[in-house]
Amino acid sequence: MNSVRNNDFQDLITGRRSIRNYDPSVKISKEEMKEILTEATLAPSSVNLQPWRFLVIDSEEGKATLAPLAKFNQTQVNTSSAVIAVFVDMNSLDYTDRIYNDAVEKGLMPAEVRDRQIPGIKGMLSQVPVQEMREMNLIDAGLVSMQLMLAARHHGYDTNPIGGYEKDQIAEAYGMDKERYYPVMLISIGKAADAGYQSVRLPIDEITKWK
Ligand SMILES: Cc1cc2nc3c(=O)[nH]c(=O)nc-3n(C[C@H](O)[C@H](O)[C@H](O)COP(=O)(O)O)c2cc1C
Repeated sequence: MNSVRNNDFQDLITGRRSIRNYDPSVKISKEEMKEILTEATLAPSSVNLQPWRFLVIDSEEGKATLAPLAKFNQTQVNTSSAVIAVFVDMNSLDYTDRIYNDAVEKGLMPAEVRDRQIPGIKGMLSQVPVQEMREMNLIDAGLVSMQLMLAARHHGYDTNPIGGYEKDQIAEAYGMDKERYYPVMLISIGKAADAGYQSVRLPIDEITKWK
């Protein structure tokens, strides 16, 4: 059965904190996980290329593979319903036609706009150095990751973004091409077993300038 939906935006954002310990008996169905991921992918991305890719690690076998790669984050791996490994696809440009054709077919974009956009995007991005493309993809991946964490809260779950893992080994450990799939972060997700810790934020006046 699906969890209860929380639509209280204030509660979704002020109540979010990194939860590292979960009720291990709680499983998230594939159907519900797909809903969460679908909501996450409503995030914006550069020229709508949606370079994010997800690996949902929710089986015992999958978690056993992950455990030695996330040595300092064992509780999240062991108790969560799933750990979602977020990657970016460095071949995201190959999806341009597919995405823009889909928009035209669905009546969301005039064909002339597509026909102008596709060569512009391909012309520009095929010249961009790999490092710049990676940076662009990582910005998009940050946005989808945040939206994923809020979508999880909408479904009554909590999360922890995790950067402490063997990024150089993660793709290969799951049979993925490490040149193509660049790691972004892990996001553990599940039913919170404790309240986590509240954390501080720098004052807005210190981090903001008005001109
Ligand atoms: C990219 C990224 C990587 C992080 N890596 C870890 C990690 O490896 N282990 C961990 O316990 N928390 C990790 N965190 C969680 C932060 O410690 C946490 O977000 C921060 O202290 C603020 O707390 P809050 O999430 O409860 O608001 C990471 C957060 C981000 C955004």
